[in-house]
Amino acid sequence: MKSIVNTSASFEEGVKKINWVRSHMPVLQKIEQKFIEEKPFQGLSIALSIHMEAKTANLAYVLSQGGADVYATGSNVLSTQDDVAYALSTMGVTVCAIHGVDDATYKNHLKAVLSCHPHIVIDDGGDLIDLLAEECKEYSDRLIGGCEETTTGILRLKARERDGSLPCAMFAVNDAKCKHYYDNKYGTGQSVMTAIMDTTNLVVAGKTVVVAGYGWCGKGVAMRAAGMGANVIVTEIDPFKALDATMNGFRVMTMEEASKIGDIFITVTGCKDVITIDHMRNMKDGAILCNAGHFDCEVSVKDLKEHSIITPYEVRNNIVEYLISTYSGASSIYLLAEGRLVNLASGDGHPSEIMDMSFAVQAMTSYYLATHVNEHPMTPHLFAVPDSIDDEIGKIKLETLNLNIDKLTEDQEKYLNSYSV
Ligand code: NAI
Repeated sequence: MKSIVNTSASFEEGVKKINWVRSHMPVLQKIEQKFIEEKPFQGLSIALSIHMEAKTANLAYVLSQGGADVYATGSNVLSTQDDVAYALSTMGVTVCAIHGVDDATYKNHLKAVLSCHPHIVIDDGGDLIDLLAEECKEYSDRLIGGCEETTTGILRLKARERDGSLPCAMFAVNDAKCKHYYDNKYGTGQSVMTAIMDTTNLVVAGKTVVVAGYGWCGKGVAMRAAGMGANVIVTEIDPFKALDATMNGFRVMTMEEASKIGDIFITVTGCKDVITIDHMRNMKDGAILCNAGHFDCEVSVKDLKEHSIITPYEVRNNIVEYLISTYSGASSIYLLAEGRLVNLASGDGHPSEIMDMSFAVQAMTSYYLATHVNEHPMTPHLFAVPDSIDDEIGKIKLETLNLNIDKLTEDQEKYLNSYSV
C-alpha cells in the first residue's frame, strides 16, 4: 500500500520536527536500541492511529526499527501535521493522514491502515477498534491485541467489553502510572495553556479561567492556569473531585454560575454538552471557549452555530467569533480550534519529554503483546499494563534525568511487610 500524504507540505520541516523530538525522548531511544537488537516485531504488522505529529512519528519509527510493518494515521484531522506525515512516509512507515480532511476521508484513512490486517493496533480514542468491531471485521483475522492511549478510548473499550463486542485483547495504556500521572496532568496542563496563549496572544494573569472537569487533565490545567496568575474556577459532577479542587484552593461552582463570570472556559471532562446555549447566554462579551477533552462535543458547537446572529467569522487563525444574544444584550463569544482538543488542533501537543514516557509504555506494551502471544493467547478483555513495564520505564526515566532514589534495606523491606514493630 502507498502512503496518502500531502506532498506539497515541507518535507524538510517535517524531518527537523522529528529529529528535534527524537533527541528529547531518551527512554524511547533506549527502547529503540533494544528493538534494533531483538527485532521483536519481525513479520508483524502494526496499525497505529494517534495524533499525527512529531512525537507520534517517533513512536511509529521506533516500532518499525523493531521489524514491524507500520501503518500510521492520525486520530483527529486538525492535529495532523502534513510536514511530519510526509517526512514519516519516507522513513519506512506507510502513512495515511492529511490535515483538515472531512470526516468521510478521515474514516477512509483509518480503514486504509487497517487493510494491512494488523497483528497489533495502537489506538487513541477507540476509532480503530470501533471499525474492527463493526465495519471492518474482515481485517481482524490476524489480531493479537492492542493498546489504547486515552481516557475516552478506555471508556469506549469498557462499553464494548460489557456488551461482548471487543474484537481483541486490549491494554489500557492510559491507566499505566507512567502515562496518566505525567501525560494527562503535566502534559495537558502545560500544552493547553501554551495553546491558548499562542492562539489568542492574550494575557492569562488576572483572568477568570473556568476549568470543567477536575480529573487527571483538569488538575494539570487548573494548576498551570493558577500558576500563571489566573483566578481559577472548577466545575465538577463528582463530589470528591470537587472537594479535592476546593482543598487545592480553587473555587467550585456549577457551570450555570461560572458561565456568568468566566473569561476563558476550558472543558476537559470526556463528557458531552458541558457548555451549551443555556450557559452561553450568560456569558460576558469576549468570552473565550475551548476544549481539551478527546471529542469535540464538550462545548456545543452546534448551539453556537445555530444561535449566532452573525455569520461566524475567523478573526484570527483558529479563533472563530460567534455573536449570541444574551440575557443582558449580546456577546461575542470566541471558539478556539473548532472545539477540538485545543492543545493538538492549535498547538504541538504535549512536550516531548512527557510523551517519551507515554510512548515508552505504548512501545513496551506492544513488545509484551508480540513476545507473549505464543505463551498464552489473549482473549478479548481490557487488560492493565503489567506493573513490570511501568516500573522499568520509571527507572529508565530517572536514569535519563540523572536522578537517584533510595533503596529499601532488607530490614526495612521486612518491616514494611509485617505488622510488628
Ligand atoms: P478523568 O476521568 O480523570 O477526569 C474527567 C473528570 O471530568 C472527572 O473528574 C469527572 O467527574 C468530570 N466530569 C465528567 N463529566 C462532567 C461534566 N459534565 N461537568 C463537569 N465535570 C465532569 O479523565 P482525564 O484523564 O482527565 O481525561 C479527560 C478527557 O481528556 C478525556 O476525554 C481524555 O481522553 C482527554 N485527554 C486529553 C488530552 C489532551 O492532550 N488534550 C490528554 C489526555 C486525555
